[in-house]
Amino acid sequence: MTALADVSCPTEVSGAPDLAAVADAPALLLVVGADTLVPLVDGRSVPYANLDVAASAPALRSVADRVTEVLPLYASVHRGAGYLSQVSTALYEASRRTIGAFVGAREDDVTVVTRNTTDSLNLLAGCVPANADGTPGRVLVLDVEHHANLLPWQRAGGATVLAGGASVAETLSGLRTELARFPYALVAVTGASNVTGESLPVADVVRIAHDAGARVVLDGAQLVPHRGFSLAASDVDYVAFSGHKTYAPFGAGALVGRRDWLDAGTPYLAGGGAVRQVAVTGTQWQTAPARHEAGSPNVVGAAALAAACDALAALDPADLHVHEATLRAALVAGLEAVPGVRVVRVWEDAVDPVGVVTFSVDGHDPGLVAAYLSAEHGIGVRDGRFCAHPLLARLGYDAGAIRASVGVGTTGADVVRLVEAVRSYVEQGPATRYEVVDGCWAVADDPRPVPVGSGLEGLFATAAAGFLADAAGCGPAV
Ligand SMILES: Cc1ncc(COP(=O)(O)O)c(C=O)c1O
Repeated sequence: MTALADVSCPTEVSGAPDLAAVADAPALLLVVGADTLVPLVDGRSVPYANLDVAASAPALRSVADRVTEVLPLYASVHRGAGYLSQVSTALYEASRRTIGAFVGAREDDVTVVTRNTTDSLNLLAGCVPANADGTPGRVLVLDVEHHANLLPWQRAGGATVLAGGASVAETLSGLRTELARFPYALVAVTGASNVTGESLPVADVVRIAHDAGARVVLDGAQLVPHRGFSLAASDVDYVAFSGHKTYAPFGAGALVGRRDWLDAGTPYLAGGGAVRQVAVTGTQWQTAPARHEAGSPNVVGAAALAAACDALAALDPADLHVHEATLRAALVAGLEAVPGVRVVRVWEDAVDPVGVVTFSVDGHDPGLVAAYLSAEHGIGVRDGRFCAHPLLARLGYDAGAIRASVGVGTTGADVVRLVEAVRSYVEQGPATRYEVVDGCWAVADDPRPVPVGSGLEGLFATAAAGFLADAAGCGPAV
C-alpha cells in the first residue's frame, strides 16, 4: 500500500461550478447510513443529508464489512496464548503497520494507536523534552487551532499562542519571527482548519520550524481523511488523526512520528502492557508504542481504521481531490449567492481548502438555522464555535456560525439541498416554531419520533431537559 500523499495531487478545480452542474454528482465511496430516512416536523421522512462529516464521518461500507469479518476472531490482544488471541494480536499489529503506512511513516517512526486526535496530541504533550533547566519545552501554536491542538500544550506549560495573520504570508512571517526569539522544541499546526478547511503550506511550515531547530506536529484530523498525507514526503515529524473522522467510527485514532521523544516521554497511561517489569519499589517502562498503550488495546477500532486507510489509499488521489473540491466550490458559490450569507475565511490567500465550509446568515442565530435545517429539511450541519474559540473570537464570530462539511460519501444532491434550504430560510423563514431550551434551539413541541425499537424513546424530552446542551454541545458555547 502506498501513502496517498506520495502522489502529489495538484488537480485544481477551475471556476465555481454552479449547483446544477453538481446536482448529479454521486458519492465516491459507499457509506453506511447513506439511505437512512429521518423524520421532518411536517410528518414526512427524507434521506438524511449528512453535511457534518468533519465532526464524525459515517463508516465506509467496506469498514463495516471488515468489522463484521473480524469480530468472530476477536479475543485479547498481547495477553493470550489461545489461538484467537494470537490472531487478534497479529490483526492489531498488522493494522498498526497499515495505519502508519497510510500516513507515510518512515522506517524508524512509531505508530501509537490512540482513541482520537485529542488523545494523540495529549500523549505527545507528555513527550516534548524539557529545557536544560527543567522547565517545559517550548511549543509554538497559532490561535487558529482546534482546542485539541491548543489545550494540551497550554496545560503542559511551555506553550506560546501566536495570533495568525490575515494572510498565509503574514502568518508564516509571524512564525519565523517568533521562532527566532526563543529555542522552540515544537511547532504544533493544523493540517486543515476545522472551521474553514484552509491550511498553511506544510512545506513552508516545516522549513521554517526545522531551520529554527524545532520539530513539527501536524493536527491531521481534517487533513488526513480528505487529502493524502505523508510524513516521509513532507518531513513533518508527527501527525495525529482520528478514525471517526476517517470513516472508521470504532474508537481508534493514531499518533505517528519520530521514535526518540516517544521512547523517552512520560507513559501516557500507567498500567498493564506498558511495562517491562514492575516491583513494589519501581517500574521499568516499555519503549514506544507499548509504552503509551497501557490497558487492553482496541483491536476492532484499529482494524476498522486500517480498513478505512486501505479504502482511501485505493482511490485515485485525483478522484478524491476533485470530488471534494468540486462539491466544496459549488457549496461556497451557492451559499454566497444567498443574500445575507457570509462564508468565513481565515486567510485571504489560502489555496485548496478541504471540504469544510463555515458560514453565517446575517441577523440570524446559527443555532436556529441549524435546527431549522434538521427539522424542516433533514440536513445535518454543526453550529457553534467548533472548539476553536480563540479563532472565532478573533474573526468576530463570538455568537458562533454554521458549518457544513463534505466527504467521500457526500453527493451533489446533498449540497444542492443545503443551499436551497438556506435560501428558503432566508426568503421565507421557518415554517414551524422554535424555542431556546437550556441554551439550545429546538422545535417547540417537536413531533418527530425516534427510530422505532431504538431504545431512544424520550430522546427529545431528554434534550429539552438540558442533557444534550452539555453532552452534545449545542450552541455557541462549544
Ligand atoms: C482540526 C481538528 N483537530 C482536532 C480535533 C479533535 O478530534 P477528536 O475529537 O477526534 O479528538 C478535531 C475535531 O473536530 C478537529 O477538527
